[in-house]
Amino acid sequence: MRVGVLTGGGDCPGLNAVIRSVVRKGVQEYALDFVGLRDGWLGALQGNVVPLDISSVRGILPRGGTILGSSRTNPFKHENGPQRVQDTLAAHDVDALVVIGGEDTLGVAAKLSRQGINLVGVPKTIDNDVSDTDYTFGFDTAVGIATEAIDRLHTTAESHMRTLVVEVMGRHSGWIALHAGIAGGANAILIPEQPFDLDQVCAWVQSRFRINYAPIVVVAEGAVPREGQRMLKNQTLDEFGHVRLSGIGEWLAHEISERTGTDARTTVLGHIQRGGTPSAFDRWLATRFGLHAVDAVKDGDFGKMVALRGTQIVRVPLAEATKTTKKVDPSLYDEFEVFFG
Ligand code: F6P
Repeated sequence: MRVGVLTGGGDCPGLNAVIRSVVRKGVQEYALDFVGLRDGWLGALQGNVVPLDISSVRGILPRGGTILGSSRTNPFKHENGPQRVQDTLAAHDVDALVVIGGEDTLGVAAKLSRQGINLVGVPKTIDNDVSDTDYTFGFDTAVGIATEAIDRLHTTAESHMRTLVVEVMGRHSGWIALHAGIAGGANAILIPEQPFDLDQVCAWVQSRFRINYAPIVVVAEGAVPREGQRMLKNQTLDEFGHVRLSGIGEWLAHEISERTGTDARTTVLGHIQRGGTPSAFDRWLATRFGLHAVDAVKDGDFGKMVALRGTQIVRVPLAEATKTTKKVDPSLYDEFEVFFG
């Protein structure tokens, strides 16, 4: 049996750990044969297929990024896209796919699975917003990077007694902002799920100054003021209809400064959160996902996604997991209210 592996969407730390784990177990335990599809669904459309064996996955466990490349290609936005994917698989004798991706890549996988392609999904994203799994890999690394940045920003903020706004990733969900903000002792955390009140943020900032501490405000890129809109970097849409975000941090610092008469600056963490070596937890989770994904392939249990539930890895229907994204529950956010201001 020949199995194709692809990584799609925004890259994240741990992708290589999954590829290694799938190939190691697939070859050693099940005598499967592997190929890689380059750059996510783009490789499937263009027939860009490369050999993948144990020697090609040697040494990649701690490496960030993905040896297979990635893209935000949506086959359903290309002429005869799904048929071209089928043709590529047939031309290379690929019997099944392991698809490693987030909401978009796995959404495509769910549709292709309904059209008869044998595949198993593996959830990745620094945003942690894939439904039906407690965590995605990549998230822990991103939170670690953002927390370290916040720790560093505290000391410089206090030296100058100014507000530092930290903009982190998170288009529809505030998981990175919430976890890193709490771990880093932020004084305000603003997430896409909860439109924020600018007057309230300014009040938190002022109350922090009153006790001679400098405020740290963590804001997710997709956070929205109650009386406003999401800040866009530009209007262009990707093939999944997503705009490019960024700008809320800069806007917030400007407003805080104007309204409180104090100095405020912004740091945008951007792709630093996605790059570099995965944390130990992400290597562990990615490795386990890979082992269980190849088991599902071997069992012929297609149309499923591997998922973390507590400490167990389970298989869930891809169709269910891709129905909606996973949001921060308001009651979880409210737990931390005592730390704001
Ligand atoms: O999907 C993960 C993510 O990092 C989001 O948090 C962010 O909005 C987006 O990707 C950025 O995408 P790109 O690197 O394509 O600009």
